Amino acid sequence: IAADLVSELGDDFQAALDDQEFEGKVGQVAKYRAVGPGGSRKIVVVGLCDDPQEDTVRVASGDLGRACMKSTDVATDLAMFGPTAAVVEGFTMAQYRFDGYKSEPKPALTETLTMIGADEGVIARGEVLAAATMRARDLINTPPIDQSPSDLATLCEELGVETGMRVVVRDEAELVEGRFGGLLGVAAGSSRPPRLVEMWHEPDGADGFVALVGKGITFDSGGLSLKPASSMETMKTDMSGAAVVISVMEAVARLDLPIKVVGITALTDNMPGGLATKPGDVLRTRNGKTIEVLNTDAEGRLVLADGLALATEFEPDFIVDIATLTGGAVVALGEKIAAVIGDDDLAAEVIEVGGGTGERFWQLPLPDEYRKLIDSPIADMKNTAGRSGSALTAALLLAEFVGDVPWIHLDIAGPASWPDDEGYQCKGGSGFSTRTLIELLATKATSG
Ligand code: BES
Ligand code: MN
Ligand code: ZN
Repeated sequence: IAADLVSELGDDFQAALDDQEFEGKVGQVAKYRAVGPGGSRKIVVVGLCDDPQEDTVRVASGDLGRACMKSTDVATDLAMFGPTAAVVEGFTMAQYRFDGYKSEPKPALTETLTMIGADEGVIARGEVLAAATMRARDLINTPPIDQSPSDLATLCEELGVETGMRVVVRDEAELVEGRFGGLLGVAAGSSRPPRLVEMWHEPDGADGFVALVGKGITFDSGGLSLKPASSMETMKTDMSGAAVVISVMEAVARLDLPIKVVGITALTDNMPGGLATKPGDVLRTRNGKTIEVLNTDAEGRLVLADGLALATEFEPDFIVDIATLTGGAVVALGEKIAAVIGDDDLAAEVIEVGGGTGERFWQLPLPDEYRKLIDSPIADMKNTAGRSGSALTAALLLAEFVGDVPWIHLDIAGPASWPDDEGYQCKGGSGFSTRTLIELLATKATSG
């Protein structure tokens, strides 16, 4: 394509590409101003490499979106090289800004994106996928002072009204009544009350039934096992799993996927207030199993225990939980790859779908022989087993709450927050897993 432009625009254009050392590698961007009789236009050339994969096109579209932040009208031929939806997603997600707290916001100015060679039928789908990811990013980036568990529950109710989903919210009294001892135990140290939310997408003639469960810690101070200040700085993001579940549910409803889905979110702060759960306390969870809390900073598994137990009661075909669960997952896989643990077939599917969406997952094992590491002398299990294999021992605890229902656990502690601006990713809350889960549900809906 650059070659076509060279023949049209001439040597000057080629010289500009050379000056900017543009070779066509992914991530490379070159700019040129073409002056003609009709006025002047900015031309942006983005690298695609030879034979680009789906996500390469999405990344290049992100590079374009970033380079065109100040252009109101943009035209691109990127859809000739990959799926149209990927171009829409990449361009849109790259122009994401979270600047509502700036006194001088600098929003993207692009109003229209004209796509040459596009498949018109899938544009709306790309828009829904990008919007869902950006909704998750907004929820993750919002400061906790402005987003309590009850605020998130209210948002879920509003989304229910807008999209036709049935939404069930349990407040503190109802959680006591329902014996959600894990969630209540984590919430005990906070002055803001917890919530547990079910969002139901129940289309007529649905084929299949899936439950999603999200960890929604609206702030993780560690509780009485207080985190050091530097580790606490980013802990507003500890509700990323819930943000993903809420955003996926909204998208599933808007796309009206022909599959039944329930999205459960367990929402609470983890704070060291006067009534906080203490190391040595034992909590009785929704399914009756007891957990000795030795480290109040291992709180995610306590709220997920109740969420998973509830999901299991609904008897879905399978359960996926999504959580910023362990530092161990970050040590193992870094900041851009998530861990998937549990049912081997489901894990393989998530990894496969993630190859298309550009969200990378890698499977870690669920070793039976490590189960004894979470044995407690006084309760059914304890909530910590030390540092080695902590992502695995956390998952082994979760496995106690899904009965015989096929289940996978996504530990997104690393990629839930993206470390830098690149392609369509923006520094801060990423919404990682949102698009993969929507695509997974879409696949399940059509394959029965
Ligand atoms: N929310 C954290 C895990 C986390 C770490 C998320 C880094 C994002 C980035 C979780 O609640 C936690 O504190 N886990 C501890 C448990 C430990 C104290 C047993 C961990 O994995 O270090
Ligand atoms: Mn914690
Ligand atoms: Zn946490």
